[in-house]
Amino acid sequence: MKKILVIHGPNLDLLGKRETDIYGRETLAGINEEIGESAKRNNFTCEFMQSNHEGDIVDKIGKTDASGILINPAAYTHTSVAIRDALSAKGIPTVEVHISNIYAREGFRHKSLIAPVALGQISGFGKRSYLLGIDALMNFLGE
Ligand code: DQA
Repeated sequence: MKKILVIHGPNLDLLGKRETDIYGRETLAGINEEIGESAKRNNFTCEFMQSNHEGDIVDKIGKTDASGILINPAAYTHTSVAIRDALSAKGIPTVEVHISNIYAREGFRHKSLIAPVALGQISGFGKRSYLLGIDALMNFLGE
Protein backbone atom coordinates (compact mmCIF):
# COMPACT_ATOMS: atom_id res chain seq x y z
CA MET A 1 0.00 0.00 0.00
CA LYS A 2 1.40 3.42 -0.94
CA LYS A 3 1.92 5.95 1.81
CA ILE A 4 1.26 9.70 1.79
CA LEU A 5 3.01 11.98 4.26
CA VAL A 6 0.68 14.77 5.41
CA ILE A 7 2.54 17.79 6.82
CA HIS A 8 0.91 20.67 8.66
CA GLY A 9 3.10 23.68 9.33
CA PRO A 10 3.18 26.20 12.17
CA ASN A 11 0.08 27.15 14.16
CA LEU A 12 -2.15 24.64 12.40
CA ASP A 13 -2.35 22.79 15.72
CA LEU A 14 -4.56 25.74 16.73
CA LEU A 15 -7.21 25.04 14.08
CA GLY A 16 -10.71 25.34 15.52
CA LYS A 17 -9.55 28.02 17.98
CA ARG A 18 -7.45 30.24 15.72
CA GLU A 19 -9.06 33.05 13.65
CA THR A 20 -12.14 30.93 13.01
CA ASP A 21 -13.53 33.51 10.57
CA ILE A 22 -10.59 32.68 8.28
CA TYR A 23 -9.75 29.07 9.13
CA GLY A 24 -13.10 27.65 10.28
CA ARG A 25 -14.08 25.66 13.35
CA GLU A 26 -12.76 22.27 12.31
CA THR A 27 -9.90 20.93 14.43
CA LEU A 28 -6.70 19.45 13.03
CA ALA A 29 -7.66 16.05 14.45
CA GLY A 30 -11.00 16.22 12.61
CA ILE A 31 -9.34 17.19 9.34
CA ASN A 32 -6.76 14.43 9.69
CA GLU A 33 -9.53 11.91 10.27
CA GLU A 34 -11.25 12.89 7.01
CA ILE A 35 -7.98 12.83 5.07
CA GLY A 36 -7.22 9.39 6.51
CA GLU A 37 -10.67 8.05 5.57
CA SER A 38 -10.32 9.32 2.03
CA ALA A 39 -6.89 7.69 1.75
CA LYS A 40 -8.19 4.39 3.14
CA ARG A 41 -11.07 4.30 0.65
CA ASN A 42 -8.46 4.52 -2.11
CA ASN A 43 -6.05 2.00 -0.59
CA PHE A 44 -3.46 4.51 0.54
CA THR A 45 -2.10 4.97 4.06
CA CYS A 46 -1.24 8.29 5.66
CA GLU A 47 1.33 9.47 8.13
CA PHE A 48 0.55 12.80 9.76
CA MET A 49 2.85 15.41 11.26
CA GLN A 50 2.35 18.93 12.55
CA SER A 51 5.31 21.06 13.51
CA ASN A 52 6.03 24.64 14.39
CA HIS A 53 9.71 24.09 13.58
CA GLU A 54 11.15 24.53 10.11
CA GLY A 55 14.10 22.17 10.69
CA ASP A 56 11.82 19.36 11.91
CA ILE A 57 9.81 19.62 8.70
CA VAL A 58 13.01 19.62 6.61
CA ASP A 59 14.26 16.51 8.49
CA LYS A 60 10.96 14.69 8.04
CA ILE A 61 10.86 15.37 4.29
CA GLY A 62 14.43 14.10 3.96
CA LYS A 63 13.78 10.88 5.88
CA THR A 64 10.32 9.88 4.68
CA ASP A 65 9.71 6.69 2.71
CA ALA A 66 6.30 7.98 1.54
CA SER A 67 5.34 7.98 -2.14
CA GLY A 68 3.95 11.50 -2.01
CA ILE A 69 3.51 14.53 0.23
CA LEU A 70 0.45 16.63 1.01
CA ILE A 71 1.64 19.81 2.71
CA ASN A 72 0.14 22.93 4.18
CA PRO A 73 3.37 24.79 4.93
CA ALA A 74 1.34 27.58 6.63
CA ALA A 75 3.51 30.67 7.25
CA TYR A 76 6.59 28.85 5.92
CA THR A 77 4.92 28.92 2.50
CA HIS A 78 6.03 32.50 2.17
CA THR A 79 9.47 32.32 3.79
CA SER A 80 11.09 28.89 3.69
CA VAL A 81 13.78 28.30 1.11
CA ALA A 82 14.81 25.34 3.33
CA ILE A 83 11.47 23.51 2.98
CA ARG A 84 11.35 24.23 -0.73
CA ASP A 85 14.90 22.87 -1.16
CA ALA A 86 14.05 19.76 0.92
CA LEU A 87 11.03 19.04 -1.31
CA SER A 88 13.06 19.67 -4.43
CA ALA A 89 15.88 17.37 -3.21
CA LYS A 90 13.43 14.63 -2.25
CA GLY A 91 11.78 14.82 -5.65
CA ILE A 92 8.56 12.98 -4.77
CA PRO A 93 5.14 14.24 -5.92
CA THR A 94 3.92 16.99 -3.60
CA VAL A 95 0.65 18.88 -3.43
CA GLU A 96 0.48 22.21 -1.56
CA VAL A 97 -2.77 23.16 0.13
CA HIS A 98 -4.13 26.18 1.98
CA ILE A 99 -7.36 26.57 3.88
CA SER A 100 -7.70 30.25 2.99
CA ASN A 101 -7.24 31.81 -0.45
CA ILE A 102 -3.72 33.18 0.02
CA TYR A 103 -4.12 35.41 -3.07
CA ALA A 104 -7.13 37.20 -1.57
CA ARG A 105 -5.23 38.14 1.60
CA GLU A 106 -2.29 40.38 2.56
CA GLY A 107 0.35 40.95 -0.11
CA PHE A 108 3.02 38.99 1.79
CA ARG A 109 0.90 35.85 1.41
CA HIS A 110 0.66 36.11 -2.37
CA LYS A 111 4.03 34.49 -2.95
CA SER A 112 4.58 30.79 -2.36
CA LEU A 113 8.17 29.57 -2.38
CA ILE A 114 6.78 26.01 -2.36
CA ALA A 115 4.48 26.16 -5.41
CA PRO A 116 7.28 25.92 -8.04
CA VAL A 117 8.42 22.55 -6.63
CA ALA A 118 4.89 21.17 -6.12
CA LEU A 119 2.72 19.30 -8.62
CA GLY A 120 0.10 21.93 -7.91
CA GLN A 121 -1.55 24.07 -5.29
CA ILE A 122 -5.09 24.17 -3.90
CA SER A 123 -6.00 27.29 -1.97
CA GLY A 124 -9.19 28.75 -0.55
CA PHE A 125 -11.62 25.88 -0.04
CA GLY A 126 -11.43 25.57 3.73
CA LYS A 127 -10.86 22.03 4.98
CA ARG A 128 -11.94 20.83 1.54
CA SER A 129 -8.58 22.06 0.20
CA TYR A 130 -7.01 19.09 2.00
CA LEU A 131 -9.57 16.64 0.58
CA LEU A 132 -9.20 18.01 -2.95
CA GLY A 133 -5.43 17.94 -2.52
CA ILE A 134 -5.23 14.33 -1.38
CA ASP A 135 -7.57 13.34 -4.18
CA ALA A 136 -5.32 15.01 -6.75
CA LEU A 137 -2.23 13.40 -5.23
CA MET A 138 -3.78 9.90 -5.09
CA ASN A 139 -4.92 10.26 -8.68
CA PHE A 140 -1.41 11.22 -9.75
CA LEU A 141 0.24 8.41 -7.76
CA GLY A 142 -2.28 5.88 -9.05
CA GLU A 143 -1.60 6.66 -12.68
C1 DQA B 1 -2.40 29.03 5.45
C2 DQA B 1 -2.15 30.42 4.84
C3 DQA B 1 -0.85 31.02 5.35
O1 DQA B 1 -0.63 32.30 4.79
C4 DQA B 1 -0.88 31.17 6.86
O2 DQA B 1 0.35 31.64 7.35
C5 DQA B 1 -1.30 29.92 7.56
C6 DQA B 1 -2.33 29.07 6.97
C7 DQA B 1 -3.77 28.46 5.05
O3 DQA B 1 -3.96 27.24 5.21
O4 DQA B 1 -4.66 29.20 4.63
O5 DQA B 1 -0.85 29.64 8.67
O6 DQA B 1 -1.40 28.14 4.96
